[in-house]
Amino acid sequence: MTRTNISIGLFGFGCVGQGLYTVLERSPGLRARIGRIGVKDRNKARSLPTELFTFDRHELLNDPTINVIVELIDDADEAYTIVKEALQLGKAVVTANKKMLAEHLPELIALQRSTGTPLLYEAAACASLPVIRNLEEYYDTDLLESVEGIINGSTNYILTAMDRDALSFAEALAKAQELGFAESNPALDVQGLDARNKLVVLLTHAFGLVTAPENLLTIGIDRLSPLATTYAREHGYALKLVAEARRLPEGGLVAAVLPTLLPPTHELARVQDEYNGLITQSGFADRQFFLGRGAGAFPTGSAVLSDLSALTYGYRYEYKKLHQNQELILRPDAAELDVLVTYTDEIEGLADDFTQVHEQFRSRAHGHYLTGTIGLAQLAQATWLHTPGVCVVRLPGPLRAAVAVGAEVAAVAAY
Ligand SMILES: NC(=O)c1ccc[n+]([C@@H]2O[C@H](COP(=O)([O-])OP(=O)(O)OC[C@H]3O[C@@H](n4cnc5c(N)ncnc54)[C@H](OP(=O)(O)O)[C@@H]3O)[C@@H](O)[C@H]2O)c1
Repeated sequence: MTRTNISIGLFGFGCVGQGLYTVLERSPGLRARIGRIGVKDRNKARSLPTELFTFDRHELLNDPTINVIVELIDDADEAYTIVKEALQLGKAVVTANKKMLAEHLPELIALQRSTGTPLLYEAAACASLPVIRNLEEYYDTDLLESVEGIINGSTNYILTAMDRDALSFAEALAKAQELGFAESNPALDVQGLDARNKLVVLLTHAFGLVTAPENLLTIGIDRLSPLATTYAREHGYALKLVAEARRLPEGGLVAAVLPTLLPPTHELARVQDEYNGLITQSGFADRQFFLGRGAGAFPTGSAVLSDLSALTYGYRYEYKKLHQNQELILRPDAAELDVLVTYTDEIEGLADDFTQVHEQFRSRAHGHYLTGTIGLAQLAQATWLHTPGVCVVRLPGPLRAAVAVGAEVAAVAAY
């Protein structure tokens, strides 16, 4: 097999762009060189000669000597413009921008087909973990039942630092930013939106379902209450931000991003710092666990490097499952889960939204909580979900097919 030489037009020279530059310098086996670099800030000091940089995207896009565009900027709208133009011009593209992908996947898939030009994005989901190509190729025929994982390194770093090092939320976030793990806009991380964007990408390659990010129930870690963290500690659970997608036995798929309590024996409970972990469950291979760094300059750069290498062999995503699973739809109405809800002010009719209430606790001093079983669609539509002072955390156990049970209260305690 002959390998193509690649000449790269690189957009972005921040955390990941600089990581890639170093990674490429140390990988002489790959026939790739960076031609020029597109950036934004004219006043920033650069570690490379100024003539390498440009502020005009067309200088890279229209350069006939550049055959691959690597897009590593932190502006999803500009990234979309760059990627779209590059594909239309017949230049292969590698990107790490999950926000841009999640917002434009249907169009970008169609554009790859119509232009015959590849777009690869292994770094966009779980950074250094080789998940997309595995989902696309290895699980081509083995039927996947579920993927669940910690897929945002920044929030996992924050939760680890709060639990292990007793840092406050603000201190832990500042440290994640300092280390280059957080998105430029940290709201994307802490509100669970980055994990949601990655879940959109994973759903496409794991199950062949392309959906808009807004269709996935997403709860971040920005509203965790002291009562919820105390509950976790007292029960011996780890608290993690988990993204999950699961086929239902009766058909359909459920998917959500939720702060989740995990027993210490669970693989994901032991995923610390900026590491990511992804568990796949499939018909024949059974349960598999991927673990690796989910953020940072070199781990993310290494995933981009792997895509560049794949391009030299003519690799492209075929999106085979899009054809195989054309009937697959999201069914939040057919799924349920167990949750802990903590709240500061009384919520009228809260228990009525649950199919089963397991426990209720009331305390003027510490706040109130309720644990119980609730439908996924019911939770997504609950008016109290976005009320200030309300925190929702999933109790151990997967998203599962709903079993309707009359509302009943197992135990009520008041202090
Ligand atoms: N950091 C990680 O661990 C990680 C992991 C996985 C994926 N990603 C993704 O990788 C991408 C880059 O992240 P990062 O952490 O490297 O960001 P970053 O450190 O903030 O760097 C952003 C770079 O983008 C450039 N830029 C911004 N707007 C631009 C525009 N309109 N035109 C040209 N250049 C522009 C900036 O230029 P200046 O230098 O002029 O400011 C800077 O070089 C993002 O999509 C992110 O989601 C990051």
